[in-house]
Amino acid sequence: MRIYLIGYMGSGKSTLGKMLAKYAGMQFIDMDHYIEKRNCKTVPRLFAEEGEEAFRNKERKALHELSEMNDVVIATGGGAPCFFDNMDVMNRTGKTVYLNISPKILAERLLNSKTDRPLIRGKTEEELIQFIDESLKNRNAFYLKAHDQITDPDTALEDIITMLNQDTSH
Ligand code: S3P
Repeated sequence: MRIYLIGYMGSGKSTLGKMLAKYAGMQFIDMDHYIEKRNCKTVPRLFAEEGEEAFRNKERKALHELSEMNDVVIATGGGAPCFFDNMDVMNRTGKTVYLNISPKILAERLLNSKTDRPLIRGKTEEELIQFIDESLKNRNAFYLKAHDQITDPDTALEDIITMLNQDTSH
């Protein structure tokens, strides 16, 4: 089994991914960390030194490698589903779950996060909400192709597991 957690920055993919993997006895992989290890550079450095396009190519390569691993929960980077045919690759090779969280909550979480995210660096709360709103207009076209979605940020792990077990066709 292979589960891909997708969604905007700050939607809780890694937090949920770790819990799910632990519960199901599966391996957890954070796609950004995987890319950093493979390239011996942090994501911010990849963006700064090689640019976003190069990062997206590396992200695509990482996805193809990860799509061959078994019994794994993968927290994808927020932009990963929105480039190339990545979303189709994920839908074909595993179960995709979209963490669909409101821009207001995302902005609050991102402002309190210690992770350096090049795309939103230095933005105020208002700027951030507007930026998230705008990018979700484009990104939702990809995110909404997921097999399942979670819209309540307080959904209990047991309910998520029930949802995943209900549809075993992926
Ligand atoms: C990005 C999200 C980040 C990381 C990069 C770009 C995006 O991952 O891949 O900074 O385009 O949304 P997280 O969603 O884990 O923060």
